[in-house]
Amino acid sequence: MTKIPKPGFASHCRFALHSSDMAWMLDYVHDNLGRVAEVGYAKPLKFVYLLGPEANQYILSDHPDTFSWSEAYELTEFLIGPTSLLVSDGEHHRRRRGLVQPAFSIRRIERQLDLVTTEIDNELSKWTPGVSLDAYREIRRTIRRVAVGALFGDSLGHRADELGQLLEPALKYLGRSPLQRRDIKMPWTAYSKSLKAKKAADTLIAEEINRRRAAGRATDGDFDTLSSLLAANGDGEKPLSDDEICDQIRGLIAAGYDSTSSAAAWLVHELGTNPEALAALRTQVLDTIGTRAPSMDDLRQLPLVDAVVKETLRLRPPASVGLRKAERDFEFDGYQIPAGSMVVYSPYITHRMADVWDNPTLFEPKRWEAGEPQPFSFVPFGGGYRRCIGFALATLELQVLAVRLAQNVRWTVQRPNPGAKGAANFAPKGGMPITILPRLPEDNGGRVGLEGETKAGQNE
Ligand code: HEM
Repeated sequence: MTKIPKPGFASHCRFALHSSDMAWMLDYVHDNLGRVAEVGYAKPLKFVYLLGPEANQYILSDHPDTFSWSEAYELTEFLIGPTSLLVSDGEHHRRRRGLVQPAFSIRRIERQLDLVTTEIDNELSKWTPGVSLDAYREIRRTIRRVAVGALFGDSLGHRADELGQLLEPALKYLGRSPLQRRDIKMPWTAYSKSLKAKKAADTLIAEEINRRRAAGRATDGDFDTLSSLLAANGDGEKPLSDDEICDQIRGLIAAGYDSTSSAAAWLVHELGTNPEALAALRTQVLDTIGTRAPSMDDLRQLPLVDAVVKETLRLRPPASVGLRKAERDFEFDGYQIPAGSMVVYSPYITHRMADVWDNPTLFEPKRWEAGEPQPFSFVPFGGGYRRCIGFALATLELQVLAVRLAQNVRWTVQRPNPGAKGAANFAPKGGMPITILPRLPEDNGGRVGLEGETKAGQNE
């Protein structure tokens, strides 16, 4: 049996110095130690890294009983709560996922196209020539409104900004690496402020639960995720407690906008720094649908839209790593990994492996014309039975954003090489400052912009 490579003391000191730079750490581990490595001396800072498509397949798909989640993700519990789907295992996970799954079916998500387009158009209508703005911050608000509105209906959707402001400090704290966290309950600590924010968010969510209960119906117009959670007492199962419902809602909102807004900012970055890719996208969109908003059928006929979204998620996967706890000893690639190990797989490293991808560090949407890559080499949403439940919603938001940017906006990115901050969610460090430029005649072949467009599905 081969011994697992471990870095020496000097390398561990360097890790400590770079504790806020997850990309640096991942690159260092992969470049210096290889695809299997153990880093750190003691829990909760000791991890076994299993990197690459084969490792992803082993962890995500082929050996579900070998790994568990709840302990691996317990650092997120202070925000999303102990009963959230995100930190559940076994039967609890199956039940909770089953409850919310109907709201995430492709058909239901496609019904959110109008909401997605309206919110994105509202945002982009403020992107007028001469304006400088932080695309990450602005789009984050938009994505939050979509996530809350799409999953929990209009009433909570209208309070998305309020809810977001409450959850924001806790999400920021969640983004810290384990080395940077101090879970100390004193009034002035970031941890205490996060707990306070979570409590305030729960009060707001409880108001909505009580409002629906008082109205004597679980639904608010359309049947949404909250409806499913409130109605969950069939098949002899106990109804969910209010605390449990709050955990699901908080978890889904946090998961729903945190990663998607990072991906959206990276999309703005990649299109803004790759003029050829943007020009090709513009040509395809304008030739196919002109300046009107896309219908679902349109989106299916725009392969470059799908390709720029996939390429952004490949090069800049918001979830840079995923964690699991090994429930039993197992062998991978000739290495013996003991039960109890915290195991890391990495979309970020997999998506940049030179033997898996040609020119891995270049943004090349056209690579997707060749079809799907080898299994488990593209895992921005994880995989297997715990694959991201929100992948269709996130993809729809990113696709509509790509179309509307191509149709209506010319911009320049102020910092060509922003780093990434965060561990669970790679967000652009320092935001994504951009300046909006006047559009050129060749941008739209003389067509009109947002103001003069026709609606989705109508012919020009
Ligand atoms: C670009 C945007 C997104 C990315 C990159 C992303 C990424 C991921 C990844 C990698 C996982 C699996 C983690 C692991 O294997 O350890 C995951 C799980 C999950 N995601 Fe997403 N996600 C995104 C958007 C969303 C949205 C929009 C929602 C909900 C509205 C969502 C809700 C969830 C939930 C609930 C899980 C846990 C599923 C389970 O354990 O059964 N995500 N996501």
